[in-house]
Amino acid sequence: MEFDTVIHGGTVVTTSEKFEGDVGIRDGRIVAVAEKLAGGERRIDAGGRLVLPGGIEGHAHIAQESSSNVMTADDYYSGSVSAAFGGNSSFIPFAGQHRGQSVDDVIRIYDERSKRSVIDFSYHLIISDPTEKVLTDELPRAFARGITSFKVFMTYDLMNLGDGGMLDILTVAREHGAITMVHAENNDMVKWMNRRLAAAGLTAPKYHAVSRPELAEEEAINRAIQLAKLVDAPLFVVHVSTAGGAAIVQREKLSGARLFAETCPQYLALTRADLDREGMEGAKFICSPPLRDHATQDALWHHIRRGTFESVSSDHAPYRFDRTGKFVNGDTPPYPKISNGMPGIATRLPYLFSEGVVKGRITLQQFVALSSSNAARVFGMTKKGAIAPGMDADIAIWNPEAKRIVLLADQHDNMDYTPLEGRELTGIPEIVLNRGAVIVEHGALKAREGQGRFVARARADMTAWPGYIAKELDSTQNFGADIAPIDGSIH
Ligand code: URP
Ligand code: ZN
Ligand code: ZN
Repeated sequence: MEFDTVIHGGTVVTTSEKFEGDVGIRDGRIVAVAEKLAGGERRIDAGGRLVLPGGIEGHAHIAQESSSNVMTADDYYSGSVSAAFGGNSSFIPFAGQHRGQSVDDVIRIYDERSKRSVIDFSYHLIISDPTEKVLTDELPRAFARGITSFKVFMTYDLMNLGDGGMLDILTVAREHGAITMVHAENNDMVKWMNRRLAAAGLTAPKYHAVSRPELAEEEAINRAIQLAKLVDAPLFVVHVSTAGGAAIVQREKLSGARLFAETCPQYLALTRADLDREGMEGAKFICSPPLRDHATQDALWHHIRRGTFESVSSDHAPYRFDRTGKFVNGDTPPYPKISNGMPGIATRLPYLFSEGVVKGRITLQQFVALSSSNAARVFGMTKKGAIAPGMDADIAIWNPEAKRIVLLADQHDNMDYTPLEGRELTGIPEIVLNRGAVIVEHGALKAREGQGRFVARARADMTAWPGYIAKELDSTQNFGADIAPIDGSIH
């Protein structure tokens, strides 16, 4: 058999196996996996290295205006280059709808922005204005085009849909087999805390953590899950930051809810103490939900190990430590006026590898699942996330022993800080391929601007999920009331 590339002598890892073997690539696809493969126009020596599915970053804000209209520092070029250096072969940033905007326009805008990507990509829509036209016309058109997931917010006045809005949109998502992602924080609890803190004159960055209580996340996660259960719609809870929230997800998964979840490295690596750094330094660590504490970190690791989370995602939300980002509202604004979010697309996988695999908290196979395979499965990237014949040759070759210190100077994003500055990490993705093309090789970028391709995604495979039927929507128990969610299949 002829190969364009053969990766030989490495240890191949999937979600279930780990074996010495070679990988043969032709026309961008994996065409053979065997003990030994001869030939190949190019042979990549992976001796002493791990051959893993390229990372899939499922949560990143790239070339996106926040709800208060602040543009992220990274566009699809810098964001994708940074992702590639972090071991990713593809990513799914958000395409954000602002109130009054049509979803068709949003997709047109992001199709233009994403032309610069060096890695394969799709988008999750963000829906903040679910008008009748959006629900009945525009969203189904987006789903048909392969944009099969979207995020909604339970917080931020300009984004919060309210429970009724959530039910409407979950019902549409269910009908079309799309996944609803949710940012779950109780908006009124946060606003009430904000008012009390403001009245007491407590507006330094550290009070951001106080303003968004753990209970606000736990309550909203629980509510989001109950809303999704009422219409039996799949739900993906993003950036879970609390032990209580994770426990709710775990319990509801066990009870059969169609539920997925992620946490993020910042909730494992940092704490609210980082918000109390000198002067305005704490602003670098303002993100929502906020950083918590060491006990929470231990609990989140426990849930990562036990399978509560499908993914560990970066929530890369790059706002520079200057007037273009964190400080668009002045040099010393009160915490509610500081842009939310921090970078992390390049350090997500090295951090998870170093703190997870190297420290023995998770297995290599779990790392593969959390970094790539689960995102491919949940978000419908059917040709990605695995090393097997027929799959895209999206591969990251890791040196599991190499050490380095995280330094801003070595980053490839457009940021002026990295939250993990000075941390020593073990494990480096040395060579990264996307559809068979080497895009990063030993610290050098080999990709061309714009070589990434849009990935039309399949609907989530819900086979074997028992789901949940609320009595009141079950015609055998609701006096025959004809109010079953749209497609009528709940019976
Ligand atoms: O603080 C964060 N994470 N900002 C990004 C927006 C979001 O909610 O994911
Ligand atoms: Zn969010
Ligand atoms: Zn986010």
